[in-house]
Amino acid sequence: MKDILQLLDDRRGQARLGGGEKRIEAQHEKGKLTARERIELLLDEGSFEEFDMFVTHRCTDFGMEKSRPYGDGVVTGWGTINGRMVYVFSQDFTVFGGSLSETHAQKICKIMDMAMQNGAPVIGINDSGGARIQEGVASLAGYAEVFQRNIDASGVVPQISVIMGPCAGGAVYSPAMTDFIFMVKDTSYMFVTGPDVVKTVTNEQVTAEELGGALTHTRKSSVADAAFENDVEALAEVRRLVDFLPASNRGKPPVRPFFDTPGRLEPSLDTLIPDNPNTPYDMKELIEKLADEGDFYEIQAEFARNMITGFIRLEGQTVGVVANQPMVLAGCLDIDSSRKAARFVRFCDCFEIPILTLVDVPGFLPGTGQEYGGVIKHGAKLLFAYGESTVPKVTVITRKAYGGAYDVMASKHLRADFNYAWPTAEIAVMGAKGAAEIIHRADADDPEKIAKHAQDYEDRFANPFVAAERGFIDEVIMPQSTRKRVCRAFASLRGKKVQTPWKKHANIPM
Ligand code: HXC
Repeated sequence: MKDILQLLDDRRGQARLGGGEKRIEAQHEKGKLTARERIELLLDEGSFEEFDMFVTHRCTDFGMEKSRPYGDGVVTGWGTINGRMVYVFSQDFTVFGGSLSETHAQKICKIMDMAMQNGAPVIGINDSGGARIQEGVASLAGYAEVFQRNIDASGVVPQISVIMGPCAGGAVYSPAMTDFIFMVKDTSYMFVTGPDVVKTVTNEQVTAEELGGALTHTRKSSVADAAFENDVEALAEVRRLVDFLPASNRGKPPVRPFFDTPGRLEPSLDTLIPDNPNTPYDMKELIEKLADEGDFYEIQAEFARNMITGFIRLEGQTVGVVANQPMVLAGCLDIDSSRKAARFVRFCDCFEIPILTLVDVPGFLPGTGQEYGGVIKHGAKLLFAYGESTVPKVTVITRKAYGGAYDVMASKHLRADFNYAWPTAEIAVMGAKGAAEIIHRADADDPEKIAKHAQDYEDRFANPFVAAERGFIDEVIMPQSTRKRVCRAFASLRGKKVQTPWKKHANIPM
């Protein structure tokens, strides 16, 4: 019996070594942790339960039969994050470069199926050279099985991808279909084809970092949601994110203990808006002053910075925040900010996370760059996302809400539940000068007359009361009482239920 037990122990030891000591050392030298070290940091101590530790590949081509390491390049199982169950897979770069074989894919599919069945998030730690080249179509089929599960799981359980090494080919498309992608600076890359292929096909010379590094994907392409300094920081941030999310679409996000008063007044907010309507101010200050304990988890902080998206808690409950940022491009809507906010709104809606919208928007950014890029379609994404969402929606207009952007930013007409405005709100079709120049075209060459017309327009519309007279604004509120009003509004909406017309699915502009 002792020998039998010893055999299990030996085999486990072998499996835990993955590709062996030398390759583990090489992984550490690159500043990367191993697949198992990552899981340990991600999950609560001692909570990891592994599946399929002894699975090996079945390939017999290209001499592969000589090497069948246990686990086949991926560690899979489940554990807890702050006591809540999650499923996890972590690719092991020390085994065939973490490449995906038929059996490697089956291991991932097994935990994805269990996550769907049992209603828990899936966290994928990706460190992979893509499809296992020696297996050919069997590995492509494996990828497609994973992709199909990513699609089936979308909107059912949260899916989070952490990119912690080179991810090429198929290795990027599975993360691309998950809800959030995190990267690590200098050690993680995502590209469909690497720099060598790029050079051969297009003659472009580009480094891996420029082509698909963390900064490229958080600032330029928007493929990734955040970039962190190292593996440890990235995994700690995933733990923080999971805490904001529900386990699945069958339940609500967790309610966490809070140490902040819902009725807290913030007198400093009464002077947040500068006297000059064209002077910017930092919308993040408002978000942090509204949030429980000032805690704000920002998503896509480095991309389309004219729009802010992220999570806060109000009375311990998760709330998604969408806010214009007057500090960048005056907070206007454009292609990138519309896409960013639309995806965030849809995430919140599918996982029953209420949405708080903070509005200070001078309109859509004009110009050929925007029109040729399809701002009509991309702007419509945000309009569509807000209009189809049925979660509790509370909107606060702090200053400008001009033109189409007024409609888009969770206006009453898109079924927001509470629409508040500060006394500093200006709700109009456009800025006063532009309006005067159009409706008084005959006076266009007379600056004095135009200034007077602009003043008339401003006197009429540069306030929230015209909209409040029509009931488009439910209440004009004191800035200092915003947290109290918003907390009460969301509390009143906890039982919200909305019936939508039957359809297979909507056809959101893509
Ligand atoms: C099998 C692979 C592999 C792969 C790496 N390895 N990628 N084995 N299949 N796809 C093995 C290497 O042979 C090597 O084995 C070990 O992993 C480490 O790889 P290195 O090249 O030494 O490491 P590094 O220099 O860090 O480079 C990492 C890399 C590079 C950038 C990922 O290995 C690479 O370019 N790999 C190929 C990427 C690729 O083209 N994949 C196919 C994509 S097509 P030894 O034994 O020497 O240590 C695809 C189709 C799916 O995925 C499409 C679905 C839509």
